[in-house]
Amino acid sequence: MTEQKATNVTWHDGDISIEDRSALLGQKGATLWFTGLSGSGKSTIAVALEKALFERGKLSYRLDGDNIRLGINKNLGFSAEDRTENIRRIGEIAKLFVDSGVIALSSFISPYRADRDQVRELHRDAGFPFIEVFVDCALAEAERRDPKGLYKKARAGEIKNFTGIDDPYEAPANPEIHLHTDAMSLEDEVAEIINYLESQQFIV
Ligand code: ADX
Repeated sequence: MTEQKATNVTWHDGDISIEDRSALLGQKGATLWFTGLSGSGKSTIAVALEKALFERGKLSYRLDGDNIRLGINKNLGFSAEDRTENIRRIGEIAKLFVDSGVIALSSFISPYRADRDQVRELHRDAGFPFIEVFVDCALAEAERRDPKGLYKKARAGEIKNFTGIDDPYEAPANPEIHLHTDAMSLEDEVAEIINYLESQQFIV
């Protein structure tokens, strides 16, 4: 757990509650946490899902590894420590989106189980839903896709600590949703998530 540095700070509630905001938007906020190898399809699924939700009049917002690392987390690299801090901050940001009534679509490799479980706990403590989506893809297939040419560089020793090559990926033990992106179509993956959100009444 990260130490609380500032003292004499207290939470300040407003007059509008999460229930008010959810009613305004006609949906329930939740965090969908996509985890998987680089090239497994996390961002592709989040983009397609955002569009499908938008077309149904539902508001979601994508938090994406590369985008966040170009902004708020630009001071973090890929050591285990920095990845942990990366995920902790995203977890807090995702919580703000849930509190606003929005469906947060978080796509990060998030290779360490303990880091993901910490985000789950942060949500549980706030009474917010956390839906872990395991974007499962064989390393050989992710490496064959290599959309950014990073596996090639990692194999050549030009990138160190690359997940799946010389850095670990710890698969989720009990994800709420488990997609096999080396065997399913994008359309079916999106449909499976929408079905889940409907069955749990996050959207109607
Ligand atoms: S995480 O491990 O901290 O969750 P995150 O999802 O934010 O990673 O960022 C991963 C993205 O950073 C990859 O999709 C890839 O484009 C890029 N990247 C650059 N170096 C590495 C590395 N050593 N390991 C993994 N991804 C890397």
